[in-house]
Amino acid sequence: MIELALSILSADFARLGDEVRAACEGGGSVIHVDIMDGHFVPNLTIGPPVVKSLRKVTQLPLDCHLMIENPDEFIPAFAEAGADWISVHQEACRHLNRTLHLIKSHDCLAGVVINPATPVEALFEVLDLVDYVLVMSVNPGFGGQKFIPSAVHKIRRLAQIRAQRALRYRIEVDGGIALDTVAEVVQAGAEIMVAGNAVFGNGDPKKNAEALLKAATEAALLKV
Ligand code: DX5
Ligand code: ZN
Repeated sequence: MIELALSILSADFARLGDEVRAACEGGGSVIHVDIMDGHFVPNLTIGPPVVKSLRKVTQLPLDCHLMIENPDEFIPAFAEAGADWISVHQEACRHLNRTLHLIKSHDCLAGVVINPATPVEALFEVLDLVDYVLVMSVNPGFGGQKFIPSAVHKIRRLAQIRAQRALRYRIEVDGGIALDTVAEVVQAGAEIMVAGNAVFGNGDPKKNAEALLKAATEAALLKV
């Protein structure tokens, strides 16, 4: 199933509820929330209070992408604020297995994320533990960056490994997803497309979300 995860990073934070509602009318089915700490990535964003407010305006899953250095310290607070999915970076976790179990112990879906410079092989020992793998197709920290094409072979590899090992994780991709890049990631095997700038950057978020989801779904139909 192809899903569009709306990254609120590019939305107007003063009108967050309205922006999220509009994009959901366009077919967005997951709300992707980018949490940045100014250490793991060179930017600062939001914390649990905003997640709690979002929880009140949508029933859709809140997908919290933690780009922070000490995720174990904050996972309980995000779960309590209403996160449904929580993902952590392989590069940020000293004890990745423990952190993934911590997420699951809070009844959230557990995801692991890899930066553009991290190979899929770094995840080998945790692929049977995770509900989803998030492949970064930009270096994390900012919305509106250019898609890095090496994400495509990583998505393909993750789909192959999943089939070979009969695993169940879903594959999500994040960064630079727009009308000109969505087809190739879908055809490589991505199922959850994160999009920020392409939805909230210019024009009507509802129409933008509709067009992107349509392009993704058409690419999935062409997949053999
Ligand atoms: C980048 C974030 C992304 C970002 C995607 O660090 O993890 O979720 O908001 O934004 P676009 O779609 O604009 O590349
Ligand atoms: Zn993200």
